[in-house]
Formats: sequence, C-alpha cells, structure tokens
Amino acid sequence: MKTVVVYESVYGNTHQVAECIAEVARTKGEVMVVPVSGATEEVVAGADMLIVGGPTHVHGMTSATTWRGAIADAEKKHLQLDPDAVGMGLREWFDGLGTQQHARAVAFDTRFDGPVVFTGRAAKGISRRLDEHGFALCAGPESFLVDKANHLIAGEAERARRWAADVLETV
Ligand SMILES: Cc1cc2nc3c(=O)[nH]c(=O)nc-3n(C[C@H](O)[C@H](O)[C@H](O)COP(=O)(O)O)c2cc1C
Repeated sequence: MKTVVVYESVYGNTHQVAECIAEVARTKGEVMVVPVSGATEEVVAGADMLIVGGPTHVHGMTSATTWRGAIADAEKKHLQLDPDAVGMGLREWFDGLGTQQHARAVAFDTRFDGPVVFTGRAAKGISRRLDEHGFALCAGPESFLVDKANHLIAGEAERARRWAADVLETV
C-alpha cells in the first residue's frame, strides 16, 4: 500500500503530526510525506491512501489573510517558521486538484485545546473537500492540539500515531 501524507504548516506542528503519521504508515508499506506545495497531481495519483492535514485558522482552513496574520504573529512572538511555510495553503491546492480521485483519504488538523464549538477545526473543511474531489473517506476528521504558545501538547504525537494505526487498519 502507498500512503501519501500532505501537510500545510506555518509553525511546524502540523508537519510534526504528519511525520508521526508517516512513521506508522511506513510499517504498512511505501510512504511519501509532502508539503502542500509539493503535492502534485502525479504524487496524489500514486496514492492508495491520502492523509491531508493543516492548521486551524479563524475556525477553519487557512486563507491568504490568516497566513499574513500568522507570519506577523511569528515575528512578534519569536516563533520559528516551518521550513516548508511558503504560503501555499490547502484551499489553493484543492482548487487545482481534479475531482475524479479514487484513493481512500482522511483529514486531520492542529488547533488550540478547547471545545470545538469555540475553536472550530480545519479538518472538517479538508474532509468535505476530499469528499468533493472523489476520495473515499475512511474516517471522520481528527484534531491534534497545541497550547497557547503554539507547541504540540504532550501526548498528542503519540495520539497521532495511534490514530494513524487505527485509520490504516481500515484500508
Ligand atoms: C492567524 C491564526 C488564527 C488562528 N485561529 C485559530 C482558531 O480559530 N482556532 C484554533 O483552535 N486555533 C487557531 N489558531 C491556532 C492554530 O491552529 C495553531 O497555530 C496551529 O495549529 C499550529 O499549526 P502549525 O504549527 O502547523 O502552523 C490560529 C493561529 C493563527 C496564527
């Protein structure tokens, strides 16, 4: 089985979760972990299983405006940018992706800890777009949590590994 993990990440947390998921997927077969800017049609077409994740911004998926806010915040709060934080977001990526996809897929996000009614979650929108593009969803959207200082909360990396194992079990 070939798994492709596509991530969008500004501060590195979603990237870190993507790597945890990939670790588990490697035990099941071939894996590619790619930033959204590298997830070409060709890369996606080779996947049996596509796992897509991004950060939650303003209750949903990122936009050009929230990216600008995130970069400004990074400067103010001295946060490190992910090496792949080049400004291309999942919305733009989905806009360029064909709608006749056949792989199985699942969505995740990172977001602040708290009831989803207050935080929102990007994975819901990612999941909906995966469905609209023809992917067969094999689980509901999942969130992994960061603290107010934008660091992955202890235990979340391990929870991402367990979630990946459960999701890959369905394939
Ligand atoms: C501009 C901006 C808006 C955000 N809005 C939300 C939000 O509405 N809900 C939430 O839970 N987290 C929000 N966050 C926190 C992000 O979800 C968090 O920074 C992200 O999960 C970190 O992922 P990354 O390290 O991969 O960029 C926001 C962060 C930024 C920079």
